[in-house]
Amino acid sequence: MNGKKIPPYLLVIVGGTGDLARRKLLPAICRLREKNLSEFYLIGAGTGKKHNDLTYRDFVARSLEEEGVDIGAMGDSFDWLYYHSVGGGSVEEYKSLADRVAELEKKLNLSGNRVFYLAVPPSVFPNAIKNIGEVGLNKSAGEIKLVVEKPFGQDLQSARELNALVHKYFDESQIYRIDHYLGKETVQNLLAFRFSNAMFESLWNRDRIERVEITVAETVGVEHRAGYYDRVGALRDMIQNHLTQLLTLIAMEVPTALEADDVRHEKVKVLRAVSPISTDEVIFGQYTRGAVQGKEAASYTEEEGISKESHTETFVALKLNISNWRWQGVPFVLRTGKRLFKGITEVAITFRRPPVSIFRQFSIKDIQPNKLVMTLQPNEGFDLFFKVKEPGDSYKLSTQSLHFEYSEVFGRIPDAYETLLLDVLRGDQTLFVRADEVEASWELYTPLLSHSFDVYNYASGTWGPEEAEQLLDGEKWCTM
Ligand code: BG6
Repeated sequence: MNGKKIPPYLLVIVGGTGDLARRKLLPAICRLREKNLSEFYLIGAGTGKKHNDLTYRDFVARSLEEEGVDIGAMGDSFDWLYYHSVGGGSVEEYKSLADRVAELEKKLNLSGNRVFYLAVPPSVFPNAIKNIGEVGLNKSAGEIKLVVEKPFGQDLQSARELNALVHKYFDESQIYRIDHYLGKETVQNLLAFRFSNAMFESLWNRDRIERVEITVAETVGVEHRAGYYDRVGALRDMIQNHLTQLLTLIAMEVPTALEADDVRHEKVKVLRAVSPISTDEVIFGQYTRGAVQGKEAASYTEEEGISKESHTETFVALKLNISNWRWQGVPFVLRTGKRLFKGITEVAITFRRPPVSIFRQFSIKDIQPNKLVMTLQPNEGFDLFFKVKEPGDSYKLSTQSLHFEYSEVFGRIPDAYETLLLDVLRGDQTLFVRADEVEASWELYTPLLSHSFDVYNYASGTWGPEEAEQLLDGEKWCTM
């Protein structure tokens, strides 16, 4: 987020041949190199012995092609890429990684600036962090940073333990906990929208707002991640992090400045103000057979690697109350699910109706409230819905909207990982989750983890179980 010149770095991706590296990190890194913003070198640290530097370069070239990145245009020989196996992850193997890092830093004349990116399953985080620390990779004459993917912990206790482990070897100022939603342009724009348009900010409170809905709907199913997803479920996979991050950005107070700690202080304050969630206001669902956008879809329990008996939730809707002066009494309803009717991420703000109807023909209930719908993906933009009188003798109201769409004005939006990696190199932690923030979020959801919820079925291609409607007290979800 700032324009500081970036010194040369050595990036070590633990999980350098994994799915995340292949699909997201390597394309983002190549785009950053293309922009010539920094000189950096990369070691892909994988578990297998199947690569050497040369075959890893081929692997990356192939992965980029598969992801549609135009390598030709880059004219890149990939000689900045290296491979090193950390095998089963023993201390000795990390020791040999440390030797390789030292050798490359010498050869490339680097001053010890390093980023360790843990792009591995969460179960591997503790061992990787401990070994990085134990073999002294966390110490050099330069700047050292650690990037940890989500999910950070699986409940409050494990998040605390992980924080304690990370803090044993790294200072909080070196730690970048990723929630890739924060890197999305349109998510960052929530701050610009709120704090540079005084018109909206003055309406942003319990006096003017009736309800806030946050929806992250996906059409994909569990894909090839059965092993991970079936143990985790939608509450941990999406609500605790992505949707809660959106909630904090929508609900937070004005930060003193757009600086990492100013923003993160305000986000933590929101989380601390959320009242304990009532289990009656949480709905779990699981997809069954159906059709998503015309294509037949199997049920969750028929997916490869999922047990027939699985009760894991693929859908969650829940209601939160933020007990502070700004929001007391305004329901925040969060909803996410897989295999839903369409893929969309949006925040819908419903404003209060006029206090009385002056139109004899309509009761106040007939006057639909104003809505502001912020679409974060796929058609990034805003719609502001308001009422107009239809021309003619009779008094008829019609709902119209003001519409803005990013792509029509700005063209290509950078990928979230491009933004986040650049911020890591620049040392800007604004878009990363702080230790107390991740714990405050787990504090909110951990009591739900031990509750045995009914898991309602919903057909693939619908908007989830009907039971989720009851959270809106007779109103309809904005996106249907
Ligand atoms: C990930 C979840 O963090 O976010 C996935 O683990 C989910 O289950 C994905 O599909 C959604 O991200 P995006 O950027 O596609 O909305």
